[in-house]
Amino acid sequence: MEIEQVKKVGVLGAGSMGSGIAQLFAQCGFEVVIRDIKQEFVDRGIKIIDGTLGKLVQKGKMSEDDKAAIMGRIKGTVEMSDLKDVDFVVEAVIEDLDLKKQVFKDLDELTKDDVILATNTSSLSITEIAAATKRPDKVVGMHFFNPAPVMKLVEVIKGALTTDESAQFVRDLAEKKLGKVTVLVKKDVTGFIVNRLMIPYLMEAVKVYDEGIASIEDIDKAVKFGLNYPMGPFELMDFTGVDISYYVNEVFRKELPAELKHTTPFSLKQMVRAGRLGRKTGAGWYDYSKK
Ligand SMILES: NC(=O)c1ccc[n+]([C@@H]2O[C@H](COP(=O)([O-])OP(=O)(O)OC[C@H]3O[C@@H](n4cnc5c(N)ncnc54)[C@H](O)[C@@H]3O)[C@@H](O)[C@H]2O)c1
Repeated sequence: MEIEQVKKVGVLGAGSMGSGIAQLFAQCGFEVVIRDIKQEFVDRGIKIIDGTLGKLVQKGKMSEDDKAAIMGRIKGTVEMSDLKDVDFVVEAVIEDLDLKKQVFKDLDELTKDDVILATNTSSLSITEIAAATKRPDKVVGMHFFNPAPVMKLVEVIKGALTTDESAQFVRDLAEKKLGKVTVLVKKDVTGFIVNRLMIPYLMEAVKVYDEGIASIEDIDKAVKFGLNYPMGPFELMDFTGVDISYYVNEVFRKELPAELKHTTPFSLKQMVRAGRLGRKTGAGWYDYSKK
């Protein structure tokens, strides 16, 4: 299949990433079918998209008509069978290998033979997910960053059996049709590029705090003004979810060679246990309840 032939895209999961990915494709002119397991989850995802586009209208960055056209291109469903005639799929269900394998097995049986199936997994093996299908050559990692409509990068990951053509198809689609910047991850390794660099950095930041070397505020300040990063490590964890950093490090501890493993810092574990997961819960390393 050529990227020009892609008209209708299936998105699995209407959570933070799925809703963002569905919005992005619809904004770029594609018909989108977004599927979740319960109607209330589908509705919540579509409401998030409506709210995000509504803000763009308020700011004068989008017209009401454009918003209505984008919303009109998105169809929510709980039925897998509604994805049978899509030309491309991005899966963004929760990060659970068995669930993703089942979803890919179903997609393989349901969709046309030449459809490329992409997964937005952050930490699971593309090769293992692809093995649940009869088309492992057409299963590709397509790792978006949160929020998907805004963040420029897409990591494109080859599983062990993914062909160069399938990976290139996803890169072309992301670059030429979605306006993204892509990088090719040639080996299906845990963490790909961005998380492989970011997680050790975040773990070190928490350790610097745990060792009483500096305050959270000063560590963030040091990184912003000394390295010119837009956010410090604690601000970043609060933004993306403190639990995400924790769980990705746990995956790294299982998967990476010993010399690359980072012990889980004490206060990170405590934060997750206390449910202080960042902006999404109103508090993380910082308190957002009064803002
Ligand atoms: N949150 C991030 O910053 C981020 C960034 C990049 C990649 N990811 C990856 O994207 C994926 C989704 O993450 P998220 O943060 O959007 O999670 P989320 O929990 O917000 O959303 C996941 C959604 O999947 C739904 N779901 C579960 N089983 C399903 C099924 N069989 N079919 C359809 N939907 C199903 C859930 O009901 C939920 O609404 C994960 O693989 C995650 O690792 C997340």
